[in-house]
Amino acid sequence: KDLIPLKTAYQSDFLIGNAISAEDLEGVRLELLDMHHNVATAGNAMKPDGLQPTKGNFTFTAVDAMVDKVRAEGMQMHGHVLVWHQQSPAWMNTATDAQGNSVPLSREEALANLRTHIQTVMEHFGNTVISWDVVNEAMNDNPGNPADWQASLRQAPWKTAIGDDYVEQAFLAAREVLDRHPEWDIKLYYNDYNEDNQNKAQAIYNMVKALNDKYALTHPGKKLIDGVGMQAHYSVNTNPENVRLSLEKFISLGVEVSITELDIQAGSNYQLSEKLANAQGYLYAQLMQIFKAHADHIARVTFWGLDDGTSWRSSSNPLLFDKNLQAKPAYYGVINPAKFI
Ligand code: G3I
Repeated sequence: KDLIPLKTAYQSDFLIGNAISAEDLEGVRLELLDMHHNVATAGNAMKPDGLQPTKGNFTFTAVDAMVDKVRAEGMQMHGHVLVWHQQSPAWMNTATDAQGNSVPLSREEALANLRTHIQTVMEHFGNTVISWDVVNEAMNDNPGNPADWQASLRQAPWKTAIGDDYVEQAFLAAREVLDRHPEWDIKLYYNDYNEDNQNKAQAIYNMVKALNDKYALTHPGKKLIDGVGMQAHYSVNTNPENVRLSLEKFISLGVEVSITELDIQAGSNYQLSEKLANAQGYLYAQLMQIFKAHADHIARVTFWGLDDGTSWRSSSNPLLFDKNLQAKPAYYGVINPAKFI
């Protein structure tokens, strides 16, 4: 309770966010969330399988309560995620043939499902969110030929059914919604991981550049994609120099950047030695210094979970607070990088 709030330390730099589930909106977890953050991302609740499990049946009740609560606490909300190859119901892009095999839907049908999902969800949440991850993780992990961004696309079911332009089609559908509501201030993001890999960063850069350049031909001065999300799922062995290079590459596109899912694996089997805890704090400090130096272009830095106990990578202790919600060296690295280094 006597800690400095993260959001206060970074108030002149960028928003500080965290990933949440309903359990984070009660009791001591809510206190911790509230104290340090001014923006939240639903860790799972806004994914396609939760929002439209079967065709045309949208289930918004639980997530509406979550968004209301977050906003009532004075935090903003980021939308995650409209188009992804995981946690998406198969019916959206795949059918089953008479032999029981999975077959892609026709381009027309899949495109209609893609557009309906994006537009219904965006219209529903309206300007209660500040940004959307429109497309998540479309690129291969380590593209062999990043100059050819189409060839670098992951073989996702949406791509199989629609074609390489599914990313562009998704952003066009989202952009149409924003064009209908000029009073909303919502940024459209492309979000991906392993983005400190320079091949992957280059492929992402080439895709965003190509799609934004093409859009500007018919919409002078306008962007199709407003932002690039760097998920930042790192480990103590991550080289911060690569993070800086990727960040600067994305900034050079003229888009805003957010750090969307930051965590740093350290140790294993739920064990974290003092040495590794300090190495983790040191890397957090180095990264925050890099982000601070580019704060004019960074909208938000979001951590992927409140504490090690509930992290998706729990056994490798990746967050700022331990399973008893006690601050780790990682917290001290983030709160005062210069001092920690
Ligand atoms: O809700 C069910 C519960 O009812 C059931 O008993 C339990 C048993 O397995 O599973 C629960 O669902 C789990 C869900 O998280 C909620 O805890 C799923 O199995 C599990 O697969 C799911 O994992 C999520 C993962 O995405 C799935 O891809 C993580 O929580 C979530 O943090 C993670 O987030 C992703 C981002 O969306 C995109 N970037 C990568 C990131 C990490 O994988």
